[in-house]
Amino acid sequence: MIIQWYPGHMTKAKREMEQAIKLVDLVIEILDARAPEASRNPDIDKLAENKARLILLNKADMSDPSVTKMWVNYYQSLGIEAVPLDSRNRGSMKAVRAAVDRASEERRERNRRRGIMNRPVRAMVAGIPNVGKSTFINSFAGKASAKTGNKPGVTKGTQWIRLDKNVELLDTPGILWPKFEDNDTGEKLALIGSVSEEVINKEELAMRGLSILKERYPQVVSVRYKVDEGRDSASLLSDIAAARGCLQKGGEADTEKAAGVVLEEFRNGKICRLSLEKPPVL
Ligand code: G4P
Repeated sequence: MIIQWYPGHMTKAKREMEQAIKLVDLVIEILDARAPEASRNPDIDKLAENKARLILLNKADMSDPSVTKMWVNYYQSLGIEAVPLDSRNRGSMKAVRAAVDRASEERRERNRRRGIMNRPVRAMVAGIPNVGKSTFINSFAGKASAKTGNKPGVTKGTQWIRLDKNVELLDTPGILWPKFEDNDTGEKLALIGSVSEEVINKEELAMRGLSILKERYPQVVSVRYKVDEGRDSASLLSDIAAARGCLQKGGEADTEKAAGVVLEEFRNGKICRLSLEKPPVL
């Protein structure tokens, strides 16, 4: 399946991102814990050169916990703080706040050496669409969402949310564009719901999702849909259609509808916690 997607507004997003990043000390990069590399735009390394960095492996409530742990270790081995997260849960924000301090320690130390004592670290959130940027900002800023307003030297319209005396957060996230280095990446992004539906052949994608599940998480498909997962993917989709009552007028299996069901359940973590990628072996 060929997936190509680079809407025009992403060009604008890139320009905005380049401007916004100049204003901050720390870039909080949000990835989807189920596919951290596919949901990561590698251009961020260039864009955020010389900035403090923090990676949040978001939607970790839907990823395979043991694999997520491998990713945390992997990014830490590259010298980047990484924290697994369910952004909808405000209780997890304490851990993020501590990670922000760790990630920006060097920056604060440099300020101290220069005699700059009370300058808050300025941070921004960045990530490709749908990874949970807005959800995270809402949970992280919480009651602090009252903004500090414009300040001299800051682009007009830029709003900072003061989290506490040490940290200020840019109120709008930097939108990164998904980078399709190969079809595999596009497929993973489509499976986690980061590519809009129109560009996808749903049935093909659902069959791909089912075959990944069968391979990595045996019996999960059989148990969820009460079907024999030993069948080939096309037959399996027909069986799921029958099992879920997705039928056309003449009583034939409506495999497109069944594909929609499978994809929705896959994306929302209803089938099982799963990870589509493992980090390179350290
Ligand atoms: P974005 O700004 O990066 O585009 O993403 P946004 O926050 O809009 O989140 C996209 C979807 O992902 C939302 O669901 C949101 O609730 C969900 N989400 C965000 N973080 C997490 C997480 O850590 N775990 C889980 N399980 N879901 C998360 P939605 O269905 O599009 O909207 P809604 O039904 O929640 O309103």
